[in-house]
Amino acid sequence: MISIQSLNKDFGAFRALSDINARVEKGEVVVLCGPSGSGKSTLLRTLNRLEPITTGRIEIAGVDVNSRGVDINKLRQKIGFVFQQYNLFPHLTALDNIVIGLTKILKMPRDEATKRAMALLERVNLTRRASNYPAQLSGGEQQRVAIVRSLAFQPEIMLFDEPTSALDAEMIGEVLALMRELAATGMTMMCVTHEMRFAREAADRVWLMEKGKIIVDTDKAAFFNSHPNERVQRFLSSIN
Ligand SMILES: Nc1ncnc2c1ncn2[C@@H]1O[C@H](COP(=O)(O)OP(=O)(O)O)[C@@H](O)[C@H]1O
Ligand SMILES: [Mg+2]
Repeated sequence: MISIQSLNKDFGAFRALSDINARVEKGEVVVLCGPSGSGKSTLLRTLNRLEPITTGRIEIAGVDVNSRGVDINKLRQKIGFVFQQYNLFPHLTALDNIVIGLTKILKMPRDEATKRAMALLERVNLTRRASNYPAQLSGGEQQRVAIVRSLAFQPEIMLFDEPTSALDAEMIGEVLALMRELAATGMTMMCVTHEMRFAREAADRVWLMEKGKIIVDTDKAAFFNSHPNERVQRFLSSIN
C-alpha cells in the first residue's frame, strides 16, 4: 500500500529524512516511534505531500505521490490524517464538522451526508453529542470526532501523529480503543505514538527512527522480545 524508496528530505542544509526505504502492506498497522526530532512527523507528512521531498520516491497504492499528474485532493481523500491537535472547526457542531467535508468536497447531498455522519458518531458512542460544539466536548470526544471525520471519506490509509499526546490520561484509553478497533477492521495504519501498550496490542510492525533514519524496522514480536536489540532497549528505557 505504501512504498518508500531512497527518500531524503532536507530543510535547507539540514537533512531531516535520510535514505528511508520501507514498505507498508495493505491492512498492516505500523507504529512509528523514536525520540523527538527524529523525523516521524516529517515522514508522515511526506506521504500525502504536505511536505515535498528532496529526492527519492513514494508510492501509495502504486501511484507516485510526487508525480505531476497526481490529483492531490483525490490522493488526500484516500489518506486520513489525525494530528495531536484535533483541528475541528470551532464554529460547527460535531455533526457538521463531519458533514461539511462530505457536502463540500465529495458533493454528497446533505441528507446522505448527515446519515453517514450520524452512523459514524454512533460508532464512537457520540450520538448524544452530535449538536455540541467542539468547546463543549472533552479532548477525547473531540479526537474521536476528528478520527471519524477522516473515516467519513472512506480512506484506504489512516495516519496518526501522536493522537493522544494532548489528552488527559483518562481519555487516552478511549482514543486508543477506537484505533485498536480500526486496526481490527483491516485498515492500513501508520501511527506515531509513544503508547507502547497500543503497539503491543495493535501493531504488526514497529519502526524506530533516530536522526532522520529508520534504524529498526521489525515485527512486533521481535521489537518486544525479552532480549531486544540494544537500540530498542535504549529507546524503551528512555520513555519509561
Ligand atoms: N518546516 C521545517 N523547517 C525546518 N526544520 C524542520 C521543519 N519541520 C521539521 N524540521 C526539523 O526536522 C527534524 C524532524 O522533525 P519532526 O519530523 O517534527 O520530528 P518528530 O516528529 O520525530 O519529533 C527536527 O530537527 C525539526 O526541527
Ligand atoms: Mg512529531
